[in-house]
Amino acid sequence: MATIKIHGGNPLGGEITVSGSKNGTLPLLAAALLIADQSIIENVPRIDDINAMIDMLRALGAKCEFIERSVLSIDASHITSVSAPYDLVRKMRGSFYVAGALLGRLGEAEVPLPGGCVIGSRPVDYHLSGFRALGAVVEERHGIMRARADKLTGSRMYMDSRYRSVGATVNVMLAAVLADGVTVIENASREPEVICCQQFLQQAGADIRGVGTDIVVIKGVEKLHGCRFRSVPDRMEAGTFLIACGVARGDVTVRAVEPRHMGVVLNLLQRAGLKVESGPDYVHAIADKRPHAFEVTTAPYPGFPTDLQPNAGVLGALAVGTTVIQETIFEARFNYIDELKRMGADMQLKDSVAIIRGVPKLYGAPVEATDIRAGSALVVAGLAADGYTEISGAEFLARGYENLEGKLQQLGATITSTPSVEDDKARNAWHR
Ligand code: EPU
Repeated sequence: MATIKIHGGNPLGGEITVSGSKNGTLPLLAAALLIADQSIIENVPRIDDINAMIDMLRALGAKCEFIERSVLSIDASHITSVSAPYDLVRKMRGSFYVAGALLGRLGEAEVPLPGGCVIGSRPVDYHLSGFRALGAVVEERHGIMRARADKLTGSRMYMDSRYRSVGATVNVMLAAVLADGVTVIENASREPEVICCQQFLQQAGADIRGVGTDIVVIKGVEKLHGCRFRSVPDRMEAGTFLIACGVARGDVTVRAVEPRHMGVVLNLLQRAGLKVESGPDYVHAIADKRPHAFEVTTAPYPGFPTDLQPNAGVLGALAVGTTVIQETIFEARFNYIDELKRMGADMQLKDSVAIIRGVPKLYGAPVEATDIRAGSALVVAGLAADGYTEISGAEFLARGYENLEGKLQQLGATITSTPSVEDDKARNAWHR
């Protein structure tokens, strides 16, 4: 297992540049499969989930190459397979996006079902009903989804009303851009990462209206062409560093961000007592005392993101007063609570609500990350804690955060990481 060691207690100070978004860039890589041409994607984060997606594209026949540190060229002129390898789908759920792209381009896709995961059950039923609505015959057998259509035909569909689904919205859009006729997706997700995918497709020649709204209208086109496109900044990474400032105290500026994507997060930081100021592409935060307690409920965009809920929990753990956090998206997103309790937090979970009585201090302890965002919450906690925190399972962090250790060191944190032998080998292979 990879581990991270942090000696906590230093306030953070300085600036960091935020990388491109993991969840914004993964759909772009899948979308490039729709284009029998070269696509150039800028602001690609150098993280393990992107590496895994590149492996997936290569396994399907596309040529992928970093032409600069964060600029990826994808040539999907020749797709040689419609079957996604299980060992790559298993690594991360975002790889299921190749289903929509392969179905849209070639009328056929065989993709293992991604299954559940540690943050809760993560079905793909909305994705599959979207494919069916477009006329595909979809079967699930022996853990593999097979979708086929002689020709996909546009249709009107309503994403389930209980949730808006980021993944299903993207997957159905990918399948629909080359379909015959008009597709209308009602109750579509409006996340900046979804808009990023819509704008990439538009730039490649797709006819999409209602970008960024919950009614997306797609008129199928004959074909798409290659283009150059810049991925969206990672609002989760930016939020993590800003919350870390609130937890460890200090004076931190995050650069290369889109503050307009972060309204609800900046509002929470202000309610917690941080001084926050933003400009066109930066956010500056100052924290000079213990945070105030707050109440927050996760919700699809523009609501508070579930991906920052664990970090918000750490802010609450050190706040003056009682914080209440309700999770509405993923039932097991509170996995970090037991680990945080080992560091001295006073937290109780009642169904989907965490009641957090703020304590003045956390204490370093050996803890374990169970997913990307739980891991980032433990890092943030370790920055403020007295003494050493050793986080095992830190390979999750490399899936979603580019150079987390280096960026935190730049802000004055005492942090080191040791990759597992397997991670090291895999990363060396990827970077060749
Ligand atoms: N859902 C269904 N059926 C479906 C699809 C979704 O019931 O077919 C439910 C899910 O179980 C969940 C809710 O709908 O309760 C919303 O899930 P959504 O489909 O929006 O999530 P996702 O597309 O699987 C993406 C991000 C997640 C992020 C969520 C919510 C990617 C690769 N993943 O997942 O990111 O938490 O949206 O914003 O974009 C992470 O980065 O750590 C991460 C988990």
